[in-house]
Amino acid sequence: MAKILQVKLGERTYPIWIGRKNVPLPDGLGAPGSQVFIISDANVDPLYGAGWQARLEQAGYGVTRAVVPAGEKSKDLASAALLYRQAVAAGLDRSATIMALGGGMVGDLAGFVAATFLRGIRLVQAPTSLLAMVDSSVGGKTAVNLPEGKNLVGVFHQPMAVVADLATLLTLPKREYRSGLAEVVKYGVIWDAVLFHKLETHAAELAAGDQELLETVVARCCAIKADVVAMDERELGMRAALNFGHTLAHAIEMTAGYGTWLHGEAVAMGMVYSARLSARVRGLPEADAVRVARLLEQLGLPVRLTGGDWTALRAAMTADKKSVRRTPRFVLVKKLGEAEIGCDVPDPILEETWNVVSQ
Ligand code: GLY
Repeated sequence: MAKILQVKLGERTYPIWIGRKNVPLPDGLGAPGSQVFIISDANVDPLYGAGWQARLEQAGYGVTRAVVPAGEKSKDLASAALLYRQAVAAGLDRSATIMALGGGMVGDLAGFVAATFLRGIRLVQAPTSLLAMVDSSVGGKTAVNLPEGKNLVGVFHQPMAVVADLATLLTLPKREYRSGLAEVVKYGVIWDAVLFHKLETHAAELAAGDQELLETVVARCCAIKADVVAMDERELGMRAALNFGHTLAHAIEMTAGYGTWLHGEAVAMGMVYSARLSARVRGLPEADAVRVARLLEQLGLPVRLTGGDWTALRAAMTADKKSVRRTPRFVLVKKLGEAEIGCDVPDPILEETWNVVSQ
């Protein structure tokens, strides 16, 4: 049975549909007769682009598809510029809707284009990766990367709707799927100890991609995200908890070169680091830090970064947009399910902990 949740933002409230069969057309597409500009990537468009185009055309929409190369390298200003020009060529006006069909990269890039083209047009998110379903398609963050760092140029632009068809996970490469599981684990660590325990108990089914289990797990993650976003849309406070593990993760992605590690893989390593830091400076029981690493490992994620260069990582963390006056800020946990944001950790502890987790 499909699940429908809501991100409650007053008159900008929107639905998240999560299911496997009878996938509906997203709400908020605008009147039939208007344009839908589907942005996808070279992996996803051949699988789902034509299907969505046919359904939308049947419903009376004018449809154009734009395809960017797959991979994080496409999430930049040059790709955005190309998409703006394709949107002009397709005759998009303010009544048009952009549909982001793909994973996190596509969602962020297409969202950024929707937020800025003609000063902002409608956006619907149709995530096809686990990471995009549980995290990036919900909450209105859009961005592109600069060579200096991830997501440094962006804008908040909430979608009109999110439609997550879990069947698309069946065609997702295993590595991409596992990468998404990192963000799932994150919700358990920062917000919901019961979810964390459930993930531990069902790690094997989860790693194998059991669709029934995924329906409840994805819905729980989206419900947490919807609550957090409703509470703090602009990340002035508690929304920052969703960045657990991301301070080091962004530094890993940047120093290794975008695309070397998938985002979720870097987040897994970052979460192992942040859990260790939490044990060191926030009293998280050592055994719980070990549980976090063990669960990630059971899900097939990397938990150790051998060969990383601490000096380069430390410098990259300074450039991260979560830094305050050039000091990196961390999300830590006092206990599983309870996050503390904005933590400043002394440099010697950062380095000692790095030495422990990178061995
Ligand atoms: N991915 C973190 C957030 O949406 O706030």
